[in-house]
Amino acid sequence: AEPKMRPPVIWLHGQECTGPTESLLRSEQPSLAHLILDMISLDYHQTLDAGAGHKVEEIKKKSMEANKGKYLLVVEGAIPVNDGGIYCKIAGETMLDLTREAAEHAAAIVAFGSCASWGGVQSASPNPTGAKGAQAVLPGKPVVNIPGCPPNPANFLGTVLYFVTFGKLPPLDAQNRPKWAYGRLIHENCYRRPHFDAGRFATEFGDEGHKLGHCLYKLGCKGPETYNNCPSLEFNNVGGGVWPIGVGHPCFGCSEEGIGFNKPMFALA
Ligand code: SF4
Ligand code: F3S
Repeated sequence: AEPKMRPPVIWLHGQECTGPTESLLRSEQPSLAHLILDMISLDYHQTLDAGAGHKVEEIKKKSMEANKGKYLLVVEGAIPVNDGGIYCKIAGETMLDLTREAAEHAAAIVAFGSCASWGGVQSASPNPTGAKGAQAVLPGKPVVNIPGCPPNPANFLGTVLYFVTFGKLPPLDAQNRPKWAYGRLIHENCYRRPHFDAGRFATEFGDEGHKLGHCLYKLGCKGPETYNNCPSLEFNNVGGGVWPIGVGHPCFGCSEEGIGFNKPMFALA
C-alpha cells in the first residue's frame, strides 16, 4: 500500500520568546523527534530548520503551493498590526502578511501559546505595536487556540494528533480552546484545594503557611478563574509537581485572556 503522507506543517514565529517551541522540544509523549520524523512533515520552522535564509523561504512557498488545503498552519507569537505591521518582519515581509498568506490555503490553523491566541504579554496596555492573536487578524478563519505561557506541549500534541488521526479538530470551547484540555478550572483539580476549603492560606512567600503547602489564593492565585489542565498534567513529565502552584507560586492566569497579562496579581501602590 501507498505509505500514508505525513501532514505538512508550516510554522510561523511572530512576536514571542519561543517558549511554545521550547516547551515542545522537551516533550516525551511523543518525543519531538518522533513527531517530526514519523508523524508530521515539518516543512518550515524558523527555530528547527537546519537551513536558513532564501533556501528555507523557497521551501516554505513550494510546500504551501504543492499542499494547498492540506497543510497545518501553526502560529507562535503575536502579530503586530500598527503602522502596517512593520514591528515584526521575517525575510522582508510583515508577520501580518505572512500569516494571512499562509492561512489562505491551510487545512487548519493552530495558535500555539497565549501570544498567538490573543496577543499575550506583547498586547498588554498600552500595546504600542498593536499586537494581536491569530484569530483577530484572520476574520472568518477558524483558529484553534492552545494558550499558556508556556503552553503545555501535551495540549498541542493531543490536538494536532487528533487532527492527524481523525482529519478534523477536537471539540472546542467558546474561546476555541480544545475542551479536553481547557474544560476545567485550575481550582477544580488543584491539590491545595483542601487547604482553600479549610481556610488555610499562605499570606506571604516563605511564611509558615507557604512552607506547609497551603492555598496560594491570598498571594493572588488566579486558579479560580483560569481554565487549564496544569494540575493534572503538570509540565514535561519530570514529575515532582513541576507547574506554577506545584512549586509554590500562584497561578497568574497565563492561559486566560484578560487575566494573565492584563490584571495585576497584586494591587499596585
Ligand atoms: Fe485554588 Fe489557587 Fe488555592 Fe489551588 S492554590 S486551591 S488554584 S486558589
Ligand atoms: Fe499558567 Fe496558571 Fe497553569 S499560570 S501554567 S495556567 S497554573
